[in-house]
This record gives sequence, structure tokens and C-alpha cells, in this order.
Amino acid sequence: MADLIRVLFHPMEKEAMVPGKATVLEAIRLAGIPIESICGGKGECNKCKVILVSGDCDAGSPESLKGLTSEEISRNYCRACQTHVHGDCEFIIPVESRIDSPKILLAYTGDACDLAPSVTKHLLLTTTAGHQSGQRSL
Ligand code: FES
Repeated sequence: MADLIRVLFHPMEKEAMVPGKATVLEAIRLAGIPIESICGGKGECNKCKVILVSGDCDAGSPESLKGLTSEEISRNYCRACQTHVHGDCEFIIPVESRIDSPKILLAYTGDACDLAPSVTKHLLLTTTAGHQSGQRSL
């Protein structure tokens, strides 16, 4: 049996053991991490972006960089479905690639409180020469 390669993903700190030349997307799926990949790994959607931290892989190849901006390339981005691992690697899965993007507030179980805003809405009745009286909102 061939040696397996360890691929570690941040910030969820999950890892997968994959055979050589597996794609990063295959490792992500094996690790059980939900990631955007609407083209199914065909290299068409550019949703599976990951950031190489360290390791031996072909990130930087024309296929792994296709469709990325120069800024993303300078920050070590690559496309997971088009990047193959050759040795132990570490990647960051950025927020924009995660399906379960972090939410600020999922649920609130505290007590409701009365709001006292410093700005309020008041309806005024006006009678101005040349204009009919009516309600105006300020
Ligand atoms: S999954 Fe669509 S480009 Fe990688």
C-alpha cells in the first residue's frame, strides 16, 4: 500500500490522509469539511479557493491559479480541485469558500429589553399658506 499524505486544514483543524496526487478538494471532502464546489471539481466555478500555508503540492501551476486575481495569487490562493498534493500539506480554507460561513448571531436566549432610541418618529399636522393641511412625517 502506498504511503498516505497528511493534509491539514485551518481554522477547523481537521485533517485527511490521502494517496499521492489526490486533489486538495478530495482531501477536504474526506476531512468532512463543507466547501463551495458547485462545478463538482471540474475547474469551472472558482469557488473552491484555499490558501497554501506549507507543503509539497502543485499550487502555482497554471491550472491551480486559473481565474484567480493577482492579489489572491500573491496571497498563496489556489483552486482546491486543481491542486494535487505530493507531500504533507497545510491549507487555510477562507471564509468565502466555506459553505457554513461564520455567523455573528445564530440564536439569542437572553431576556428581551425595552428599546429607548435617541431618535424617534413624530407625525405633525401643518397649516401653511398655499399648501393644504395634512400629515407630514419628519
Ligand atoms: S470546484 Fe469548481 S473550480 Fe474547483
